[in-house]
Amino acid sequence: MRLVLEKVGREYGGVRALDSVSFSVGPGERVGVIGPNGAGKSTLFRAIAGTERGGHGRVVLDGKNLAGVSARRRARLGIARTFQITELFGTLTVEENLRLAARSHDEVEAALQRFELRPLRARRVDELAYGQQRLVELAVAFATGAQLLLLDEPAAGLGAAERVMISEAIRQLPSDVTVLLIEHDMDLVLGLVDRVLCLSNGQLIADASTALIRENPAVREVYLGNHESEIAS
Ligand SMILES: Nc1ncnc2c1ncn2[C@@H]1O[C@H](COP(=O)(O)OP(=O)(O)OP(=O)(O)O)[C@@H](O)[C@H]1O
Ligand SMILES: [Mg+2]
Repeated sequence: MRLVLEKVGREYGGVRALDSVSFSVGPGERVGVIGPNGAGKSTLFRAIAGTERGGHGRVVLDGKNLAGVSARRRARLGIARTFQITELFGTLTVEENLRLAARSHDEVEAALQRFELRPLRARRVDELAYGQQRLVELAVAFATGAQLLLLDEPAAGLGAAERVMISEAIRQLPSDVTVLLIEHDMDLVLGLVDRVLCLSNGQLIADASTALIRENPAVREVYLGNHESEIAS
């Protein structure tokens, strides 16, 4: 799917969480979204997914202006989102969570297969290891049939092995699915995307290829200081 943002903004009280952000992402593109805490990354995802009213600017999906289109309808148009904190139904099984998201039995089976979740299908989600839960969350987003996945720190809070598992699952998503990935770990995100957007104080301060992002002066300035170790190497 092609996603275009034109001067998208959002204020909370006096805080400009998003400040006139514009960019375009093409079908199948893999794009990282980086920036310090509070930069506006999750707010950006909410603006795209339509989970809040009151922003400004335009969000256009495959030529369709999404102004006034509810989050539920945007989901039907093919946008799915995973959250910084897992939002699965813990008392339901893996399969039941997938069934709530998918449009058909075949999509449930396809998701179980793709994410190697068949052995866990009958397990309650809240009995799974956290890394497995994050994998289920990814599977649920995929099972909706979404063509645009918004992944908000899908590997947050995971150990090294689990991070590799989630990274591989993201890497192996079908090539026609467009992915926006928020992630603080620079090595992880740069290993998965072709292009990186960097937000700072709600502004898009860089939009560069993965190869060039570490050298970008605006990005270096934001990350020097308390994030120096993340961008180093
Ligand atoms: N519901 C809200 N009410 C008031 N302020 C908010 C709300 N949501 C976000 N903000 C503010 O908007 C700004 C951007 O927040 P956002 O959560 O988008 O940042 P982020 O880049 O996702 O940060 P993190 O890396 O910590 O997840 C911050 O200043 C935050 O405090
Ligand atoms: Mg966030």
